[in-house]
Amino acid sequence: MGKKELDWANIGFSYIKTDYRYVSNYKDGKWDDGEITTDANIVMSEDAGVLHYAQECFEGLKAYTTEDGKIVTFRPDLNAKRMVDSAARLEMPQFPEDRFIDAVEKVVKANQDWVPPFGSGATLYIRPVMFATGNVIGVKPADEYQFRIFVTPVGPYFKGGAKPIVVKISDFDRAAPHGTGNIKAGLNYAMSLHAIVTAHEEGFAENVYLDAATRTYIEETGGANIIFVDENGTLVVPKSHSDSILPSITRRSIVYVAENILGMKVEERYVKLEEVSSFKEMGLCGTAAVISPVGKINDHGKEICFASGMDEMGPTIKKLYETLTGIQMGKVEAPAGWIHEIK
Ligand code: PLP
Ligand code: COI
Repeated sequence: MGKKELDWANIGFSYIKTDYRYVSNYKDGKWDDGEITTDANIVMSEDAGVLHYAQECFEGLKAYTTEDGKIVTFRPDLNAKRMVDSAARLEMPQFPEDRFIDAVEKVVKANQDWVPPFGSGATLYIRPVMFATGNVIGVKPADEYQFRIFVTPVGPYFKGGAKPIVVKISDFDRAAPHGTGNIKAGLNYAMSLHAIVTAHEEGFAENVYLDAATRTYIEETGGANIIFVDENGTLVVPKSHSDSILPSITRRSIVYVAENILGMKVEERYVKLEEVSSFKEMGLCGTAAVISPVGKINDHGKEICFASGMDEMGPTIKKLYETLTGIQMGKVEAPAGWIHEIK
């Protein structure tokens, strides 16, 4: 078998069915041994907990082909840990972190012909998902679950790749204060679907959500955290008063890269909407978004335009982007433990 014949440079961010997936089921208080299977379909009870009370959480990470032809993943230990945290918040059983990493290795290896080549602009998106398959009718956690990982090759999340996008300040909320915004649960994305369809109809690429309690502070977007660069070149990263921002692995990595590799000053702090116009650059960061530059925010018709403009990434975001993707693609030396080779 060789690499699949795909037009790697032009695939978008959508599902392409690949050959193998990993499945493990939880029953009688324990996970089974798990296996690689070709069956992409799931058969479950009409009364499965996921269908009624949305007991589901997921993860997202990527596999990359490096310049020297290795297949690597980026900090999968942090995805394993975050899924444990998501499961705990939703009263689901934990999928052990070492087994999570082992399952990622197995499913990527089985699908290695689907890992896009180095330099193609595409990567292999890895989607672990866990959901309640057991019957529930009263509101309570189920007692049976499935953990599954499938993979799909993807291109850029936003059309146009690294071109700046325009986002809007949303009138909807994605997460309640002290609710589930800090975990990766499908229910948060259900909350955001009407808002994103509305934003797209209006011509915006994403929604910026404010803190739901006061609508004063910047939180994050529907599918990525936010970073800013101020007039002194400091990286400014919004914090939440109500713990309703997803702890992005990309954002945590960018903060480390900025401080320890690029020698930048970093402020992780509360950021008011009213101060955003003083910033020079803005980006959205996440596994899917990588670092996507924002050229403009539309706040109810008022435009906040960043100095970096609508043509290209601003200089600081570009440096962060090149260093982060350089690490992921094996061109820049990675901090210890960040790169996990699939052998
Ligand atoms: N925030 C939201 C709401 C997301 O869906 C994602 C995507 O995973 C992120 C932030 C970025 O997180 P990460 O960098 O871990 O992919
Ligand atoms: C990711 O970046 O992995 C996500 O889950 C975001 C999603 C909107 C695709």
